[in-house]
Amino acid sequence: MEKTALGSSGLEVSVFGMGTMTFGAESDEAASHAMLDEYFQAGGRFIDTADVYSRGGSEEIVGRWISMRGNRDELVVATKAFFTMGEGLRGAGAEYLKGAVDASLSRLGVDYIDLYQIHAWDPNVPLAETIGALAGFVEDGKVRQIGFSNYTGWQIERAVWTTREVGGPTPASIQPQYNLLARDIELEILPACMDNGIGLLPWSPLGGGWLTGKYSRSERPEGASRLGEDPNRGVEAYDRRNTETTWKVLEAVEDIANARGSTMSQVALNWVRNRPAVSSVLLGARTVAQLTDNLGALSWNLTEDEMARLTEASAPGIPDYVHGFLRAAAGVTVWDELGTVSPSN
Ligand SMILES: NC(=O)c1ccc[n+]([C@@H]2O[C@H](COP(=O)([O-])OP(=O)(O)OC[C@H]3O[C@@H](n4cnc5c(N)ncnc54)[C@H](OP(=O)(O)O)[C@@H]3O)[C@@H](O)[C@H]2O)c1
Repeated sequence: MEKTALGSSGLEVSVFGMGTMTFGAESDEAASHAMLDEYFQAGGRFIDTADVYSRGGSEEIVGRWISMRGNRDELVVATKAFFTMGEGLRGAGAEYLKGAVDASLSRLGVDYIDLYQIHAWDPNVPLAETIGALAGFVEDGKVRQIGFSNYTGWQIERAVWTTREVGGPTPASIQPQYNLLARDIELEILPACMDNGIGLLPWSPLGGGWLTGKYSRSERPEGASRLGEDPNRGVEAYDRRNTETTWKVLEAVEDIANARGSTMSQVALNWVRNRPAVSSVLLGARTVAQLTDNLGALSWNLTEDEMARLTEASAPGIPDYVHGFLRAAAGVTVWDELGTVSPSN
């Protein structure tokens, strides 16, 4: 599997990262280890976890696999902190993070974390405090690079400026939701990343499973799938996404998959992989069979014409103000420019 630069951080990551949100939840330890083996066998070396996934369970499962395989030095290991780990245990405050990073190191059974991410913006803590703490972890050798997740465009710019002010490490990555059904990041977040040499790590590249084509227009899902288990689950919620806009995008994905003889998942993953600033697409899977399907996207790529068709079919439209105003004033907006970006290979 190819590697790409994580923004301008100097760190290299595999073009597909192994997401581990299902570990210890939908996927038990044996299934999770089988997926890690499959990913590693395909040449993948980038693993993304978080303390909150299965309340530490995902980090522990990854940690036991690393210890069994003895492959720590070959891997780029990313984790995150912020969401609740217990009563009063959450946030991006310095004291809390000091305990959180040590707990993650211990669960993962490693001496350092390659990429330590703040899982979401914390409105209750000055950013300088958070970044000061992160700088300390880098100085102590506990962390190599820092990143953020679920930040808005101005919060990313603020983070970059704050690291300059306090002399902390430059953010290497931003981890946002990004897929053919969720392109909002193109207005503010993606340009902020491009402007600052920050690598994008898209989460939910299949829209939580929607882009595999497994959900239907007429039946609320049931059974062993993410929305079958909970049709109201988070950003993927069935009723909210069961719209004409979604079906238009899914039809375009299906047309290309049929013409290619590939799966819809592979089409959707390749679209994300080709988008600007994207360093590594975080794969999510419940089973090895799903992961094998998704890894199959690496053996081919979309043409420029297919990219353009998908980009057009999924175009979200721009808000009248300020983006519409700027388009009228200058004839072009950031979004227009991104809409015409071609695949890199
Ligand atoms: N930073 C954040 O806030 C944040 C948030 C979410 C995720 N993440 C990261 O991003 C990773 C990926 O996110 P995600 O799991 O939401 O990604 P996703 O690719 O959008 O959805 C993955 C889910 O879709 C289904 N699926 C995947 N491949 C399939 C296939 N080939 N055929 C049929 N179904 C398939 C599986 O769910 P079912 O079988 O259960 O339907 C799987 O768990 C996570 O593991 C995590 O590392 C980060």
